[in-house]
Amino acid sequence: MNIVVAGGTGLIGQRLVRQLTKDGHHVVILSRDARPSGGPVRYESWNGRDAGPWIRSIEEADAVINLSGASVAEGRWTTDRKRLIRDSRILATRAIVQALRDASRRTRVLVNASGVGYYGSMEEGSATESLPPGQDFLAQVCRQWEDEARAAEGAGARVAFLRTGMVLDPSGGALTKLMLPFRFFVGGPLGTGRQWVSWVHHADMVGSIVHVLNTEGLSGPINIAAPAPVRMKEFCATLGRVMRRPSWAPVPSLVLELALGEMSWIILTGQKALPDKLVAGGYRHRFADLERALRDAVGG
Ligand SMILES: NC(=O)c1ccc[n+]([C@@H]2O[C@H](COP(=O)([O-])OP(=O)(O)OC[C@H]3O[C@@H](n4cnc5c(N)ncnc54)[C@H](OP(=O)(O)O)[C@@H]3O)[C@@H](O)[C@H]2O)c1
Repeated sequence: MNIVVAGGTGLIGQRLVRQLTKDGHHVVILSRDARPSGGPVRYESWNGRDAGPWIRSIEEADAVINLSGASVAEGRWTTDRKRLIRDSRILATRAIVQALRDASRRTRVLVNASGVGYYGSMEEGSATESLPPGQDFLAQVCRQWEDEARAAEGAGARVAFLRTGMVLDPSGGALTKLMLPFRFFVGGPLGTGRQWVSWVHHADMVGSIVHVLNTEGLSGPINIAAPAPVRMKEFCATLGRVMRRPSWAPVPSLVLELALGEMSWIILTGQKALPDKLVAGGYRHRFADLERALRDAVGG
């Protein structure tokens, strides 16, 4: 297949593109920082907002995977930063959907990133795909992001949204940030420790995207997480065990709120997102157990 991956340079994108080329696909990466192309991977320049020569690659695509978006965990959530977090997702998705609608040839599927943050903060109960969105900033960004992507159905594409949990990847993202205090023997549960952590090993992240891509029956919102979410207290205790470090120094919510401002929300709240739809659609996780997943991801 010809597959366009917007944001294919990121944490998830790099591993995904490697798998897609291994599977024999031709990949075009849309990037603000296009590099020389080679082999089965070609780079196209875009600004994540406006139409340009890159739309030709959409015209030729059998599938589009959209992972673009400014990180939610870099820098304090100032008004400008929140605008960037929102616009880098909404405008990039809108530009892709417009290109799909204008194309003379139908692209079969759009797989679009989203997050479990869609559900807002849920200390009790499980987050399944039929729940309404939360009211906080991230939940509303996810809702708008999914609404933009859904418009690709008008172009005849199957559309799937990946409501993704925390990806366990030793090369970056939330896990490396959580590991840092443990390295210095000051790791411990964050906030009350009761918030849910829906996690997914990077191999299952890639495996799930490939599965959604190839499974005609899967569309709409799909939780991408391991089947056994844990509370933050258990997550940190397991991480400490795997890193052979104690998990003893709880960091109070107030300290995180003062240090990180509104961004502390992503650490202090969570959701128990269950991947029932993905599993019913035939996906089998390689890593369903947190300790095994962490041992594989970070060693130990
Ligand atoms: N990793 C996770 O744990 C996780 C969890 C839930 C949801 N997600 C979602 O999944 C998607 C991929 O995650 P990731 O961890 O791979 O993200 P990432 O490493 O931050 O990469 C995202 C890509 O988005 C592009 N990008 C960054 N800022 C942009 C901007 N201002 N405008 C347009 N494009 C921009 C970058 O590509 P270029 O620099 O090449 O343009 C970057 O490589 C994201 O949308 C994220 O919100 C991730």
